[in-house]
Amino acid sequence: MIPTGFRRVTPADVAAFRAICGDANVLTDQSDLEIYGADETEDLCFPPEVALRPANAGEVQTILRYCGEHRIPVTPRGAGTGLSGGALPVSGGVSLSLARLNRILEVDTDNLVVVTQPGVITQVLQETVEAEGLYYPPDPASRGSCFIGGNLAECAGGPRALKYGVTKDYVLGVEAVLSNGDLIRWGGKLLKNVTGYNLAQLLVGSEGTLAVITEITLKLIPLPKERICLVAPFDDGQAAARALTKIFTARLTPSAAEYLEGAAVRCAEAKFGKSFPQSDADAHLLLELDGNDRSLLDKDAETVAEICFAEGARDVLLADDRTKMADLWEMRRGIGEAVKSVSVYKEEDTVVPRARLPELVGVVRELCRKHKLDAITYGHAGDGNLHVNILKRELTDAEWNDRLPGAIAELFQRVVAMGGALSGEHGIGWVQKRYMPIALGPNELALMRRVKHAFDPLGILNPGKIFPDVE
Ligand code: LAC
Ligand code: ZN
Repeated sequence: MIPTGFRRVTPADVAAFRAICGDANVLTDQSDLEIYGADETEDLCFPPEVALRPANAGEVQTILRYCGEHRIPVTPRGAGTGLSGGALPVSGGVSLSLARLNRILEVDTDNLVVVTQPGVITQVLQETVEAEGLYYPPDPASRGSCFIGGNLAECAGGPRALKYGVTKDYVLGVEAVLSNGDLIRWGGKLLKNVTGYNLAQLLVGSEGTLAVITEITLKLIPLPKERICLVAPFDDGQAAARALTKIFTARLTPSAAEYLEGAAVRCAEAKFGKSFPQSDADAHLLLELDGNDRSLLDKDAETVAEICFAEGARDVLLADDRTKMADLWEMRRGIGEAVKSVSVYKEEDTVVPRARLPELVGVVRELCRKHKLDAITYGHAGDGNLHVNILKRELTDAEWNDRLPGAIAELFQRVVAMGGALSGEHGIGWVQKRYMPIALGPNELALMRRVKHAFDPLGILNPGKIFPDVE
């Protein structure tokens, strides 16, 4: 579907793109376009008409200037690991890959910042700075394959966001290309900066709808020396969520506090052929504590264990060697994929104030019973951020299509009533936009549209995302 005002890519356009990026970086084969037409969002595929792989910001500028003049939609693309369809070229046109802007430009060990291009894999960036004793904490489950630029576009989180904050908390500066081809730079190696509107933060989480990020300056912190994990299985998921709240009211801040339903853990066991402790439990807490003093961590671990036992944990198991911890995290990071491989599914990224988590766990279960749906939940419980994967399993298409929209709308209404929001870290993109009016009123949506229009008056940049089709 090409919305009014856009035009299809012609052979003359393809020739122009070849002149900009070189033949090898202009892809038009159907098999390539299908790759660029999908990300990790469900089984959706919207192939672009052409995929471009520019080498630098200058080429990105020339492409956008050309596409603006010719009204060709452009969908920026990182590594394609997004979960809300942000990188899907739903209006056709150009898929603009940032994969070749893949250099870490500087690790500044005096200022504790890293300057990078957007196409660097997040884990590569993390390991590069860790070699200098520095730490970039945001760690989306896909950190081994996602790009740092995509992390900015979606404001990615991950388990360690709990203690250390999400992507936005580390972004000090950006360089970006506007839809008319103009280059902007805002911020830099500055820990403080109120020089006008914070354009860098405006771009974080804007899902490729405002500008194309071509360079990023990130804050780093010293790498903690010690780390231990605890696994606490519970026979009641809500009790696990209550224990978590009590850990915080005891004034402890784990570096990660994940809630894993037993069903989620069992999916990961099947996928990895490894076992997770007491996977028959209703739910687990997977906790991590970090710091520089092991004896302090052990003391905190004792308090955490006491709290978990008081809330009915079956057991509290310590993992403090690297291999055991790596196994636990491998399984945790693989849960998303493992759950998806079970059945056709729909994923929600609910977030509520942390202390409402036990209620959210109960609401998900209540709505599943009411709407006769099956869901597996897991996520970053310490952030009140629960991923709810609703599974089609044996339902007919008619049953699935009939039950799902009402169930999701009701879930979001309940979440918003708890002071929550539609997405904690996956974004709105394509698949959640219809639910936006549940969370935001007409004034907020109208203001966001005006921001979009100020950045991209022709509407060529990632059209069809974030805003509901009809408000
Ligand atoms: C996770 C992804 C789905 O937490 O955000 O596994
Ligand atoms: Zn997550």
